[in-house]
Amino acid sequence: MNQDELKQAVGQAAVDYIKPHLDDDSIVGVGTGSTANCFIDALANIKHLFDGAVASSEASAERLKSHGIPVFDLNGVSGMDFYIDGADEINERLEMIKGGGAALTREKIVAAVAKKFVCVADESKLVPMLGTFPLPVEVIPMARSHVARELVKLGGDPVWREGVVTDNGGEILDVHNLRIASPMELESSINQITGVITNGLFAQRGADVLLLGTQEGVKTLK
Ligand code: A5P
Repeated sequence: MNQDELKQAVGQAAVDYIKPHLDDDSIVGVGTGSTANCFIDALANIKHLFDGAVASSEASAERLKSHGIPVFDLNGVSGMDFYIDGADEINERLEMIKGGGAALTREKIVAAVAKKFVCVADESKLVPMLGTFPLPVEVIPMARSHVARELVKLGGDPVWREGVVTDNGGEILDVHNLRIASPMELESSINQITGVITNGLFAQRGADVLLLGTQEGVKTLK
């Protein structure tokens, strides 16, 4: 199977995973990216089994709506059982780097509300140590240079993702050359820099389940 086929396989596996738990009142939390898109497309086949979705980006909201799946504002939702999303990197403790698609802040917010984070990824995303993929940090635009200097002090090489403005009006710094031995600590340290909206480490709230697309089939890691 090629990478696209692996993404489709995990998208369908995530639908199979949540399907037995859905009812008329269920709200499904939906992430962003090419793997999340495969999940959305598979989810459309069972749209009669749940109430609607909350999306972590405008792009995912549009894709959900194009399938006729109602999209709700998170503020009008009291909770949800599942959040399904991809990752740029994930380790065996199910800590992740996310935000390659610049949706990290909304992803972190929706994930915080959900009882269970189901990560969907092809096998290329599973790594022994996080940090080869540059860590995205969303910043308030006027703080960008200040945050970049502070990130250098933490040992990284930040690069401005020029031209990208997030759904929240933020800008993105991609931090290269980090070997992230302690993801929880680094997540906190970066979030304490004034001007940071959030960073793409999902360690304090990692995934609860990983559905990993491999050549031997979809594996479930918990
Ligand atoms: C979006 O901001 C990201 O967090 C995505 O979830 C992540 O980049 C994975 O995307 P792909 O499924 O396209 O690799």
